[in-house]
Amino acid sequence: MRLNLLSLLTMLAALALLLLAGCGEKKGEETRFTTLYNGTFKTNCAQCHYPNSPHNNDYNLQVDFSTIDNAYSSLTTLKSVDASQGSEAKCAGINLVVAANPSSSFLLTRIDDAYCTPNYANKVGCTPTKHSEGKTAISAAEKASIIAWINEGAQK
Ligand code: HEC
Repeated sequence: MRLNLLSLLTMLAALALLLLAGCGEKKGEETRFTTLYNGTFKTNCAQCHYPNSPHNNDYNLQVDFSTIDNAYSSLTTLKSVDASQGSEAKCAGINLVVAANPSSSFLLTRIDDAYCTPNYANKVGCTPTKHSEGKTAISAAEKASIIAWINEGAQK
């Protein structure tokens, strides 16, 4: 009898722990980056930016949106390439994403004119140009979500 009571208590304690662990896990809740990847980078960007794609090769780009992991590491580790001639030739070496700092994140110059300022990121002569609308075609809400993701620390 005594033993049974003990094992009952042990089982109850184990159940309580399981429940607690379950609450902490937030199962099924997507991170902002997952939502961004599935709704924007994968659908609007991956068709041009994957390893050795024609667009990447033409400009010596490494940007890769083919998987969520590659997208995350591209955005958080790559620096801009000296992609095109003219005013942009001076834009190399800028981080694509700087956590909590949208106006230093080169990524945003590709999707929003407002970030394409002269002497961008203190690079004299660098005036980035946005992708043409057809290339990105992302909504204002998606743009805002990318900016929020950066402001929140660019977490995975
Ligand atoms: C139709 C093809 C195409 C699509 C779609 C496209 N891009 Fe690009 N992307 C390019 C080309 C070409 C360049 C090089 C010229 C330039 O920088 O504008 C480039 C450059 C870039 C760069 C700069 C890389 C560097 O190192 O200088 C980033 C960042 C980028 N794209 C992000 C995106 C994102 C984010 C999307 C989706 C919202 C996207 N691109 C959609 C063709 C594309």
